[in-house]
Amino acid sequence: MSVNTHVANPPSYPATLRCIEKWFETDDCVSLMLASEESHQFDFKPGQFVTLGVNIGDSTEYRAYSISSLPGQSCLQLTVKRVEGGKVSNYIVDQLAVGNEVECLAPAGEFNNIDCLPRKLDGQNKVLLISAGCGITPVFAMAQAWLAEENGGNETDITFLHIARNIEQTIYFDKLETLAASHSNFNLQLLLKEARESDYPQGRLSAEWLETLVADFKQRTVYLCGPNQFMLDTASYLEQLGFDMSQFHQESFTPVQTEQTISAQEEGEQVRIELPSLGQSLEASRGALLADALEQGGVPIIIACRSGICGSCKCKVKVGQVESSSHSPLTEEEIAQGYVLACSSTLCDDVTIEI
Ligand code: FES
Repeated sequence: MSVNTHVANPPSYPATLRCIEKWFETDDCVSLMLASEESHQFDFKPGQFVTLGVNIGDSTEYRAYSISSLPGQSCLQLTVKRVEGGKVSNYIVDQLAVGNEVECLAPAGEFNNIDCLPRKLDGQNKVLLISAGCGITPVFAMAQAWLAEENGGNETDITFLHIARNIEQTIYFDKLETLAASHSNFNLQLLLKEARESDYPQGRLSAEWLETLVADFKQRTVYLCGPNQFMLDTASYLEQLGFDMSQFHQESFTPVQTEQTISAQEEGEQVRIELPSLGQSLEASRGALLADALEQGGVPIIIACRSGICGSCKCKVKVGQVESSSHSPLTEEEIAQGYVLACSSTLCDDVTIEI
């Protein structure tokens, strides 16, 4: 996929990249610089993510991470935070070393500042970037991209609202303060759970805090990224406050698991999955996620974002039925041909799948 035609020599994907630099952003979060042997320049839309394949033990595990650097550079920067039980993220934080190689799939994702353009008011884009935790990475990339535009990025008025535990846990803290000091159109708002002696306010995000910290939020296009509950809460504060939700965009890396799925699985009815091209046949609970069933059966399928956005788990249902909650990276033609996303599809019936 090529998204920026001005980039001279983008890599072809999947690409083998080497970690050329790694440092701690906070005590549980690292940034990595990845580059190719051939010094390719990377081509993507600010806000997009890449799926990394990381060798852990005998297997290659895939996960999606947002890019926090700018397009057109010969390095790709990713920021990865430790998560409870997070096999790949924790491996990257603890063990991935400078010099190690990873596989990198093509940049993807609709949450970016080219597909989600801000509304122009009086000749100026006004945006509000809201994030918590590692959700800062794609919105930080968007902010940098706007600030790097012609005229010092003066066409975009940015309010950057980030929620963190404290200053020490604020990813990119120094860079954020530097941007705020050097750009009059970059207004930094931090809301901390433990402000201690810092100059930033202490609190938990609420509708009242939103109004207090960003008085003109209704004139802005909002871009939101963070943990799932944080995003649900923030979207509901905006709705309560009468925000025009046509100006709202959010990223979501949230594994799909519906209530219906759980109750069907509890009933324990079994369905069969035939995989003729692999000569395999599996059994799974009716209502189970197709991705889980394939993974448990050892089927070689890449399941990266588990959120119906990266497209890595695309497969074709040739016979039978699944119920899909997302088709977003698939084309209409692919949907008509029977392609589904395994991470977003539950088993209704016996099925025959082509990987
Ligand atoms: S794993 Fe990303 S769309 Fe399914």
